[in-house]
Amino acid sequence: MDKGKKILVSGVKPTARQHIGNYFGALRQFMELSEQYESYIFIADYHALNFVQNAKELEQNVVDIALDYLAVGLDPKKVTLFKQSDVPEVTELCWIFDTITTMPYLARAHAYKDASTKGKEASVGTFNYPMLMAADILIQDADVVPVGQDQKQHVEYARDTAEKFNRIFSAKGGSAFSGGEIFKLPEPMILTEVAVVPGIDGRKMSKSYGNTIELFASDEEIKNKVMSIVTDSGEGIPKNVYALHKLVRSESELKSLYENKKGKYQELKEALADDLMNFIRPLREKREKLAQNKEAVLEILKSGGARARSRTASKMSAVRHAVGVELY
Ligand code: TYM
Repeated sequence: MDKGKKILVSGVKPTARQHIGNYFGALRQFMELSEQYESYIFIADYHALNFVQNAKELEQNVVDIALDYLAVGLDPKKVTLFKQSDVPEVTELCWIFDTITTMPYLARAHAYKDASTKGKEASVGTFNYPMLMAADILIQDADVVPVGQDQKQHVEYARDTAEKFNRIFSAKGGSAFSGGEIFKLPEPMILTEVAVVPGIDGRKMSKSYGNTIELFASDEEIKNKVMSIVTDSGEGIPKNVYALHKLVRSESELKSLYENKKGKYQELKEALADDLMNFIRPLREKREKLAQNKEAVLEILKSGGARARSRTASKMSAVRHAVGVELY
C-alpha cells in the first residue's frame, strides 16, 4: 500500500442487495478516491448482525457485497477490501469507547431514534451502533470517511469520541505515548450532488423503505421499478424521475430531453429505464462472471482482512497502554 497518502475508510452493511443509492452515494466514490487515498473498504458484518440473524444469509450477503464491489471496478490491489469481523479488535475498542460514552449522547443517534420512534425495542447493538462505527474508523487512523448524508452523524460521533478519548487518556504521565494524541480526527466526505439519492417514492432510497432500484437489477426489474416511480403534477418535469436520471446522464443532455417531452411522464420514464438498463447491464454481466469463482472472492477478503488487521496492532497497543490494561 502507498505510504504517504491520506487514509480513507468506509464500510457498507451486508444486509440486502445494493441499490443505486449505495452506488452513487458511496461505491462510486470509493473507486474514484482510491487513486488519491490509501483506501480501506470493509463489509460491516458485525453491524449487520443487528438485522440479519441467520448464518447462511449473512455469509451469502458478505460474498454478495464483495462481488458487488469487484463488479463495479474496485481493484483489490489498490484498495484493501475486507470484512469487519476479520479485525476483531474493533469490538475491543468499541467496548473501551462505551466506557467513556454516555447513554443520553447515544440516544440522539438517528438509527436508534428511528428504531425507538417506530415503537421497536432496540437491541443494545443498535443503540451502540455508532461506537462500533467509531472503532472501525479510528482504529485505522482514517483521515476521511466517504459516506452518504445519512451516515454523517455517525462520522461526527467518531470525531467526538476520538476527541474525548484523547482528552481523557492521551498525554497521561509516563506512557510511551505521552504528549501524543492517540486518535486522529476523521472528516466525513459527502459528495453533495449525490448526498441523497431518492427512491421511487421520492424519499431517500433505502432498503428499509422498500423504494430501491437494485444496482444489479435485471432489465425487467428496472422497467417495473421505473414505471412505478411516484410523480407529481408539477411543472411538467417529474422531479423524482429527473433526480434519478441525472445520475446516469449529463444534465445538459437532460435539459433538452425534458424540455421536448414536457408533461410526457410515460416517455420520460421509458427514457430513464433505457438509460438505467444500459448503465446496469455491463455491471451485471461482470458480476455474473465473478460469481463463478467464489474461492477467488474469499481469498481477496481473507488477504484484505489480514492486511487491515496487521495495521491495528500498534494502535491497540497504544490504546491498551493509555487506558492502563497493558501491563506486559
Ligand atoms: P449502509 O450499508 O446503510 O450504506 C452504505 C453507504 O451507502 C450510503 N447510502 C446512500 N447514499 C446516498 N443516497 C442513498 N439513498 C443512500 N443509501 C445508502 C450510506 O451513506 C453509506 O455510506 N453504518 C454504515 C456502515 C458502516 C460504516 C462504518 C461506514 C459501518 N462502519 C465506518 C463508514 C465508516 C451503514 O449502515 O451504511
